[in-house]
Amino acid sequence: NETNGLVDGTSTKQTGVDLPTELRKEFEKLEQQFTVDRKKLKQISDHFQQELEEGEEKGDFLTLDLGGTNLRVCWIRLKGNKADLEIKQHSYKMPNEIKTGKASELWSLVAESLQAFIQDQALEGTKDNPLHLGFTFSYPAIQEYIDQGTLQTWTKGFDIKGVEGQDVATQLRTAMSNLDLPVELVAVVNDTTGAMIASSYHDPKTIIGAIFGTGCNAAYMDKIGNIPKIQSSPEIQSLNPDTPMAINCEYGAFDNARAVLPLTPYDEQIDADSPRPGEQAFEKLSAGLYLGEIYRRICIDMHARNLIFADADIAALREPYSIDTSFLSNVEDDRTPDLSTSADEFMSTFGIRMTADELRFTRALAKLIATRGARLCATGIAAICRHQGLSSGHVAADGSVANKHPKFKKRWGRALGEILDWSQEDREERDESGEGDESQMGPIVLTSAEDGSGVGAAVIAAMTLDRWRRGE
Ligand code: BG6
Ligand code: GLC
Repeated sequence: NETNGLVDGTSTKQTGVDLPTELRKEFEKLEQQFTVDRKKLKQISDHFQQELEEGEEKGDFLTLDLGGTNLRVCWIRLKGNKADLEIKQHSYKMPNEIKTGKASELWSLVAESLQAFIQDQALEGTKDNPLHLGFTFSYPAIQEYIDQGTLQTWTKGFDIKGVEGQDVATQLRTAMSNLDLPVELVAVVNDTTGAMIASSYHDPKTIIGAIFGTGCNAAYMDKIGNIPKIQSSPEIQSLNPDTPMAINCEYGAFDNARAVLPLTPYDEQIDADSPRPGEQAFEKLSAGLYLGEIYRRICIDMHARNLIFADADIAALREPYSIDTSFLSNVEDDRTPDLSTSADEFMSTFGIRMTADELRFTRALAKLIATRGARLCATGIAAICRHQGLSSGHVAADGSVANKHPKFKKRWGRALGEILDWSQEDREERDESGEGDESQMGPIVLTSAEDGSGVGAAVIAAMTLDRWRRGE
């Protein structure tokens, strides 16, 4: 029997093959070399699994993050191991004037910040061997390719001429080449997609990436076969319909027709005075950029009607957008019996001395506005879950409201349960935190993707480079 001893590959004993002595000895050597015993099989399989779990993304990447509170530049070393990353980062201030200035000023500032970072970190790149860049551009953009993005409309108070309708990657490339930066822009991503991919990199339960910050928005994964909008594209037709694709919902623009949103006169005024009236209707009720502004306008109105700040000079408070979410959070979170923290905040920021009644009113108002915002933020996530048939998983969230407002998560979690009809008993049993934190109590849980979009952009840039190198 020629295959004796080789059939199951477990025997290294004499083969029993009828051969001349010399040849038999040679064969026995070969047999030893080629036999894979059970122990080895297990060892290989373990290693295989480890590699599968490690992923393939490796390398050094630059990332640029434009669209939140700061302009952030990161250098990220991906080591192919999800738990092991190196990050160096720096945040650059975005002067307010830039937001309504010229395109050339914006892109020069971005390229100069990148240049300063490259110099500070002594990063080396050349024309032939450039540094690879993932660009998180957190505005609505139409993307036909991963390394381009045509801005549809500015959001979050930006109003820079000459960018809408244009490819932001081309504009950034021009500014980088004006400074001779040895950088190749590989991928443009939205912050929600970045947060989702960064979280999926270490948490397989991630179902959605969300931003609750200056703006609000979310991304999820779908199969290309399920996305009617893209079916006519020849590129899409050549792909397997099960190919996954990240969908950036841009749901800050939900209900721009204003069919269901609970708009108040203050929301209407904010919209009318914004650079893009009629746009981002949902975001203007629920995102960080607007919460303080709603609060400020109500205070001004109450003052005009002689209900608060009777003898105070409220000139400083008249400055639009002068109240940010952290002010609102501090007022709401004031635990001093006489609300002295709020009193100090109003005095130091606006020079207004408050009465006890005013302090109680402004605190209750901060709660009212933040609660509405958090509850509305749950509606978009619930809608995605229902649309996708997702009944459990992690919503990886980033943004100043999610991270810094002390009650956001709890209110968001409670509202999600109300929409998705989770029973209280069920929720208590599932409480992942064990602390009664309602964002952790349902089958769909809020997790932190803090600073995730930088890592997400690096991972997406790594995947893109890998595809390019394979000629895809
Ligand atoms: C940052 C992310 O941590 O959060 C950005 O890096 C994101 O990509 C931002 O846009 C959102 O938060 P905020 O509050 O700065 O708008
Ligand atoms: C705005 C932007 C969107 C971004 C969100 C959060 O809604 O249009 O692209 O994801 O803000 O930053």
